[in-house]
Amino acid sequence: MNKLLLGAVFFMVSNVICAQQLRLNEKNVDQILKAMTLEEKAQLLVGVSQNLVNGAAGAVAGFPQFGIPSAILADGPAGLRIDWKRDGDRNSYYTTAFPVGSCLAASWDVDLARQVGAAMGNETKEFGCDVLLAPGMNIHRNPLCGRNFEYLSEDPVVSGKIAAAIVHGIQSSGVGASVKHFVVNSQEDARQSVNEIVSQRALREIYLKGFEIAIRESNPWTVMSSYNRLNGPFTQENYELLTTLLRDEWKYKGMVMTDWTDPRNTVAQVHAGNDLMEPGHKEQVQQIIDGVKNGKLSIEEVNRNARRILEFILKTPKYHGYKFNNKPNLKAHAALVRIGGAEGMVLLKNENGVLPLSSNVKTAALFGSASYYSMSCGLGSGTVNPDHVVNIVDGLADAGISCTKDLQELYAEMHRFEDARHAMERGDDYDWKPGRVQYSEFELGDNAIRSQANKADIAIFTLGREATEGSDRPVTGNNGFNLTDLEIRMLKNVCREFHALGKKVIVVINSGSVIQTANWKDEPDAILLAWQPGEECGYSVADVLTGKVNPSGKLPMTWVEDVKDHPSTKNFPMKDGCNLSESLHKEGIDVGYRYFNTAQKQVSYPFGYGLSYTSFSYSKPVVKKTKEGFRATLVVSNTGNRSGREVVQMYVSAPKGNLKKPANELKAFAKTKTLNPGEKQVLSFDVSNYGLASFDDALDQWISDKGIYVVKFGASVEDIRAEAKYNLKKAFVKKVNDILKPNKVL
Ligand code: BGC
Repeated sequence: MNKLLLGAVFFMVSNVICAQQLRLNEKNVDQILKAMTLEEKAQLLVGVSQNLVNGAAGAVAGFPQFGIPSAILADGPAGLRIDWKRDGDRNSYYTTAFPVGSCLAASWDVDLARQVGAAMGNETKEFGCDVLLAPGMNIHRNPLCGRNFEYLSEDPVVSGKIAAAIVHGIQSSGVGASVKHFVVNSQEDARQSVNEIVSQRALREIYLKGFEIAIRESNPWTVMSSYNRLNGPFTQENYELLTTLLRDEWKYKGMVMTDWTDPRNTVAQVHAGNDLMEPGHKEQVQQIIDGVKNGKLSIEEVNRNARRILEFILKTPKYHGYKFNNKPNLKAHAALVRIGGAEGMVLLKNENGVLPLSSNVKTAALFGSASYYSMSCGLGSGTVNPDHVVNIVDGLADAGISCTKDLQELYAEMHRFEDARHAMERGDDYDWKPGRVQYSEFELGDNAIRSQANKADIAIFTLGREATEGSDRPVTGNNGFNLTDLEIRMLKNVCREFHALGKKVIVVINSGSVIQTANWKDEPDAILLAWQPGEECGYSVADVLTGKVNPSGKLPMTWVEDVKDHPSTKNFPMKDGCNLSESLHKEGIDVGYRYFNTAQKQVSYPFGYGLSYTSFSYSKPVVKKTKEGFRATLVVSNTGNRSGREVVQMYVSAPKGNLKKPANELKAFAKTKTLNPGEKQVLSFDVSNYGLASFDDALDQWISDKGIYVVKFGASVEDIRAEAKYNLKKAFVKKVNDILKPNKVL
């Protein structure tokens, strides 16, 4: 008996000593997994709360006895979101508000996206975090999605390429990225429960394609599975999605974490290949332990997921003992934001070359609350706490354009009133802060507007829209897709009074998402879409309005005349309309320009559209076969008299085959450097035969039919400037798994 006891004590002590000596490194992951108890592994799979970095979203459990530190995960897509102040600490922890996703994508500039990613990654690392939960890259299925400002595009190639560049940038700084939300999280209302029912074709070609591109090209450390269900099960519990597709087909080796949910079917999540549960709940640990004990989960599955978490930990700054300084170079990052914001801006209208503003314009009457409280980003986890946001009024002043003081004072008075009212109503709601929220609009009478027209050289009318995670955008009302009657009346009256005196009106749109334009765009002389361009908003706007920067952004999504024009609107679960428990993707692949361009339905501004202060010509393109597909080249020349950059989009029309295809599909794009007048640049575009393929649900295969592909080069999907041909002599076919079938007839 005594001997036995002695033996047991010896065994325990030697185990403790062994464990103490065993510290995680690249070569001993197997050993660590052997040494960890089931309880420890279960805990590794379930996130924990942390108090190392206030305001960071979550953490992975640490095990000091194995040399496993606790890694910190923080939002988000427009820059690091942490609390800017900490109890009992007099330092501040402001971070940079970078351009939101839709703005960055509108630059069509992968180098810029990489630089912005690198700066965001640097802040993540210097504030002691290990992963930035970005980029958000769900497809803009419908303009009403509350988080479209965080996301990139309606097109998977734009989404995939820009996301890959952001991931490359973030990870070049030594922290991880998390591409999210995998997948079809294209709406916010009922996002935790809705079943997105999508055909295999639309899923593969539209919703998965961007992720496929980003994951294959940039190998993000982590992927975040979404809140919603997809064709039945939650994505987080979907083995076909997280293992058959992501790991087996796409060969992804990184870590998958859940979006921040309450406990669901933890056993199913682990089995599906969802490595980490976030934010993590105690009962999930027990559910994993019980799952193994009662045979619902195998220990191999637990080990498989734990291994992926350990392999992730090995890459983190925490593991490498990085000494962060809480002092990234915010000044340098602000300078990048100023450039990046301006690069994403899209000039929608410029009648008679009213822009850039002539140096005679000295005084502007600024209408619209967002002229004075401009929005750098949106609300929710994609928000940021910067130390400043440059309002449009201040950016213009810095560029030598002052605003009429009485109008400014009037707006200030209204905003003071609104602040006081909100302080009373919402208490200390942290989101009620200038730089993110939309102040109300109010109406001015004709006399007041006329007196402004007398005083100012020009009117600048800012239309602001705030949007938020957690709910979709309404069609009408404040912050709706449509302008309010008050906004339309004001805009018309301002145009009438200013035009009567021969003075111009410029509209600036300060919104991360699409708004209605068709019913008022004829009124003003120019329209600049500024998005939510980050903390230097006012400077970036002034740079474009004054011509310091020649606009080169192009729309990464269609701007429709009416929100109902999107086929998806019928099925988009609006609070006051459809059934919120399921979202039937009856429109299939008819998303964005794929529908409008093919159906030749008029839109307000087409996909890929954007004006410049100069003009460009495209040469005759040359198409040459490569091992994988083809390479096209063409020469772009600046034919105007200002320096500028051009985004060239390459669309392809496929030969007739068994599948109905969109008239034109974007397959590649490129942006020139800044070209001086008369200067030229050769751009090249690579496409593989796989990249040309469509998905055939019936045969579970990707197919590019043989025949002639018309390769088109456009300044937008409706402005094709040059064409060439590619002859695919033998059909390309790639058989894949028959997975992710809709659980209901569409
Ligand atoms: C959002 C994620 C975010 C997470 C952590 C969730 O509500 O959907 O995008 O990363 O919260 O804050």
